[in-house]
Amino acid sequence: MTGATGNIGRMVVDELLALGADTVRALTVDPARAALPARVEVARGFLGRPATLPAAYANVDVLYLAPHLPTAAEACRLAADAGISRIVDLAGPKGAHWQGIEDAVEACGVPFTHLEPGEFMSNATLWARQIKTGDVVRDTCGDAVNAPIAQEDVAAVAARVLLSDVHAGRSYELTGPEALSRRQKVELIGQALGRELHYVELPRDEAIAELTQDMGAHAAWYVDGQQSLREHPQAAVPTVPALTGRPATTFLTWARKHANLFQDS
Ligand SMILES: NC(=O)c1ccc[n+]([C@@H]2O[C@H](COP(=O)([O-])OP(=O)(O)OC[C@H]3O[C@@H](n4cnc5c(N)ncnc54)[C@H](OP(=O)(O)O)[C@@H]3O)[C@@H](O)[C@H]2O)c1
Repeated sequence: MTGATGNIGRMVVDELLALGADTVRALTVDPARAALPARVEVARGFLGRPATLPAAYANVDVLYLAPHLPTAAEACRLAADAGISRIVDLAGPKGAHWQGIEDAVEACGVPFTHLEPGEFMSNATLWARQIKTGDVVRDTCGDAVNAPIAQEDVAAVAARVLLSDVHAGRSYELTGPEALSRRQKVELIGQALGRELHYVELPRDEAIAELTQDMGAHAAWYVDGQQSLREHPQAAVPTVPALTGRPATTFLTWARKHANLFQDS
């Protein structure tokens, strides 16, 4: 397990243990801080420092590759050298930002399974500042539609795919259970909080100014991405229930579970 203390990686560790995985080895720069469960073997290192990988890879059968683009190619070559039999990589939609991960995996020649989640529900925390301070969410492309996924579901899929070779050679597009507009997501967060939130549509430049407070220099890139989503909405696909045997988490369920993210502590 690389990225074993990450947002998704740490949940993959727990899922693997719950599913009865024989041996789980986790990579971390700081084993003491990581405080992983006692049943987990801990290796010291980081994907971004490839020199740390050969020792961590020794005798590994299947590798979970966390998304770290700068050293993905070297991490994959070293996995091939170590005789790893399959790589399960966390990337993103084909042709998008994370494509370099899939390219690196395929170039190294090791059998693979690609996990291709779309937007994470947790990206909605982009609105947390506004929701903590009032009932209005100023945003743009309110009618842009996609089917965001809970990171918990990505982890549940990853663990099951790691444990079964039937997934070799497959790419799995992963989404949540429902396609939602940005306006609907804001309404659902309000429902989870027991509040009525009002969505206010802004023109591009004003939206960039608003969202720069939350995401800095990425705001323009993000807003333009929403514009493109308006033209190419993302539909929900049934891969999460098919691979986990349980329904994918709805946005409302996610928002209720993580309501604290939108409230002052
Ligand atoms: N569709 C999408 O939106 C999409 C798709 C793919 C990926 N992503 C992104 O990828 C992330 C998913 O991966 P994840 O959350 O499981 O893992 P992650 O946030 O990428 O973290 C991986 C781990 O790498 C380790 N690390 C050590 N040194 C580091 C350094 N200098 N910089 C970064 N990490 C370092 C950290 O563990 P230690 O400190 O214990 O070593 C960290 O917990 C998401 O948060 C998301 O932003 C998004």
